[in-house]
Formats: sequence, C-alpha cells, structure tokens
Amino acid sequence: MFKYHCLNPISAVGMNKLDENYVKTENADEADVILVRSAKMHEMEFGKNLKAIARAGAGVNNIPLDKCAEEGIVVFNTPGANANGVKELVIAGMLLAARDVVGGIQWVQEFEEDGDIAKIAEKKKKAFAGTELSGKKLGVIGLGAIGVLVANVATHLGMEVYGYDPYVSVDSAWRLSRSIHHATTVDEIYKECDYITIHVPALDSTKGMIDKNAISLMKEAL
Ligand SMILES: NC(=O)c1ccc[n+]([C@@H]2O[C@H](COP(=O)([O-])OP(=O)(O)OC[C@H]3O[C@@H](n4cnc5c(N)ncnc54)[C@H](O)[C@@H]3O)[C@@H](O)[C@H]2O)c1
Repeated sequence: MFKYHCLNPISAVGMNKLDENYVKTENADEADVILVRSAKMHEMEFGKNLKAIARAGAGVNNIPLDKCAEEGIVVFNTPGANANGVKELVIAGMLLAARDVVGGIQWVQEFEEDGDIAKIAEKKKKAFAGTELSGKKLGVIGLGAIGVLVANVATHLGMEVYGYDPYVSVDSAWRLSRSIHHATTVDEIYKECDYITIHVPALDSTKGMIDKNAISLMKEAL
C-alpha cells in the first residue's frame, strides 16, 4: 500500500488509474508519492518516505531535480499530455495577432446602438483587416511534442514553416512534415520569419533567449 499526496487538483482521468494499492493522504510528510501540476517545490522539505514525484505536465522546472537525485527520489512527467491543447492556442494566438479580431469586437460593442452599424462597418472594417497567414513564414523553435504539431498544422494553413531544434529526437523528426524548412541556426528563424513560436523547456540555457540581439534581427511588424 502506497500513500500519495496531491499538491494540486489532478484530472480524474489520471487519478482513476490508481488502484486499491494507493491511498490518498492529506499529509505530505507521510507520502510515498507526490503528484503535482504547477506548485513550486523548490523550498519544500521532503518526508522520509518520499520515493517519487509525478508531474501532470511536460516541464519539471517547478521540481528540484538535483535535490531529488541526491535523495534518490524518482521524478516522472507526462510529456506531450497538453501538446494538442497548446497547439490550438498557438494557432488562435497567431490568428489574433494577424487580424484585429478583438479590436473589431470592441468596435462593434461600442457602436452597436449607433443606428446603421452595418453601413459604418463597411467603411471602418479595413482598420481591423490585418493580414492572411497563408504565404507567411512561421519559425518554430523547439520541435518536441508541441513544436511538431504546430509546425505541421501551420503547413495546412499555407504557411512556409521553418523549424529549429539542434537536439531534435528521432521520434519528432519522423513525425515532422517533410515540407518544414530545416533552419540550422536560430538567427535564421529571427531574420526570415514573420511569426515565431517557441516551444523549448525553461532551462538556464533557454531563459532570456529572446534578448535585445534576437529582437534586433527580426523583421518589422507586418
Ligand atoms: N503552458 C502550458 O500549458 C504548457 C503545456 C505543455 C507544455 N508546456 C511547456 O512547453 C515546453 C515545450 O513542451 P513540449 O511538450 O513540446 O516539450 P518537449 O520536451 O517534447 O520538446 C522540447 C523541445 O525543445 C528542444 N530544445 C531544447 N533546447 C532547445 C534550444 N535551445 N533551441 C531549440 N530547441 C531546443 C528539445 O530538443 C525538444 O525537442 C515545455 O517547457 C513545457 O513545460 C507548457
């Protein structure tokens, strides 16, 4: 029998996988296993029974990996679990950046009582038109679970997609559309692309990668 403690609410889809060998405890100090989503664990004291920490999510930067290694605590994650949801939000973000949908909605709300809004809208709609995504260049930095999905779907929107990932896994490379342009330096992404989306882990080596120099290489806004 193992005792588990949840630092955050975890979906029933996952919790239902635990059989009668697992019982929940509200006391983290006596737990064999801790389940976590976003709670920050760096300052946490671990109980002497703790054997494993499982993160319901991809990144593990809220877990002190060095301390866990020293104390023999195994850390698990669920890579790719949210990848499709993130992909859809990236596409939504890109569409919102290309077209001033929010500005258009606000404009309609402001003027909806003002008589013939349909007629005025004909004159004003240009201000919110923006640009099409088709034919534009998208740069994807990090071609893991999320990056591959974003890159592939963008090709179906008619975008020219550049991918950069010096450590790409064989599995990701197999899943990547053949039409993705292989960028060998990240600067190529900054210089060439109209939109850039970043899907790398938050590490000391990746934090701050979009700095003054990177921005200076980028194109002017469309
Ligand atoms: N906000 C959310 O809801 C949410 C959800 C899921 C994932 N994420 C985060 O998004 C990130 C990516 O998730 P994923 O599931 O695709 O991870 P992943 O591990 O499958 O892929 C990450 C990719 O980044 C590449 N990479 C590492 N350093 C790089 C660098 N310097 N330049 C270019 N590529 C580099 C790796 O080779 C790998 O292919 C993770 O940090 C994760 O925590 C956020």
